[in-house]
Amino acid sequence: MSKTATVSAPGKIILTGEHFVVHGAYSLVAAIDKRVTVTIREVRGSSRISSGNVVSAITANDGKFAAVKVVLRKILEKKHEENLEVMISSAFPAGSGLGSSAATCVAVAAAARKFLGLNSDPRSIFELAMEGERQVHGNPSGVDVEASLQGGLLLFNKKTGAKSVPLERSLQMIVAYSGKARNTKQLITKVSMKKRNFPYFFESLSNASSFLTLGVLESITSGDLPRLGAFLNLSQTMLNWLGVSNITLERMIDVAMKEDVFGAKLTGAGGGGSVIILPKPETAESVLKALSKKCAYAFLTSIPQQGLSWEQ
Ligand code: PMV
Repeated sequence: MSKTATVSAPGKIILTGEHFVVHGAYSLVAAIDKRVTVTIREVRGSSRISSGNVVSAITANDGKFAAVKVVLRKILEKKHEENLEVMISSAFPAGSGLGSSAATCVAVAAAARKFLGLNSDPRSIFELAMEGERQVHGNPSGVDVEASLQGGLLLFNKKTGAKSVPLERSLQMIVAYSGKARNTKQLITKVSMKKRNFPYFFESLSNASSFLTLGVLESITSGDLPRLGAFLNLSQTMLNWLGVSNITLERMIDVAMKEDVFGAKLTGAGGGGSVIILPKPETAESVLKALSKKCAYAFLTSIPQQGLSWEQ
């Protein structure tokens, strides 16, 4: 058993197919250059989890770090007496639609396996992280966890799993966080109600979303950015109909569109969280400037990015 283990895992943006992916459609997801870093070390006293000023005993049922505790309890079983501290540090906010809970669960699962001297089998880490995600989301598709684990650009479907898409050139996207955290579980339930009320229409929209995802994939690999932007805008219209967009996100998209971009949409569960924007190379600066006045924070990320990484 090593005395300390540090790993990091990236957040993600969903390019297309969020929500529909829960119901079996295809989704395209990419890791971003904002990461969650987890260190596990031996300490005196009882085992605990810490992130900034927030600390909680692994055995405490205080509502703090709920998903992380599920992962740790599963892997540590009766080894709580190991006297360890799990330190979490994230470069992006929780609840921002950028996959912070999945990145944290992946990093904690990987760090714990390393700490205990177990192998770094990606499927074991995936299963552990999914246990944590189920605690938070209820019915996650697994798209966030795969993006954090594998990195890069992935074509994902619940049945077929994740397929890595090689990219010849990197893609620049702007990510803007509204500052409004939201609850993915509630939004997934809201979409399920929509499906119940409009079953046939939902099914055709879900199929259309899969075709849209394939269109986005083809636009990225061929470097056709205007076409990619048009698909992102169409995806936003579909998400709007599902009821997961809101006035805050629409305003942010408006601000970006006025600066002359190829396209923009919400990313992740919606209801707050973040939007992604495909800028023209010459407008990226002005979009970032305009958005920084209207949102909590905005940054440029390039795709692809590395997935789970084992630090020294
Ligand atoms: O929680 P978020 O914002 O990362 O969204 C996850 C994407 C959903 O499709 C809404 C849920 C899922 O598990 O696929």
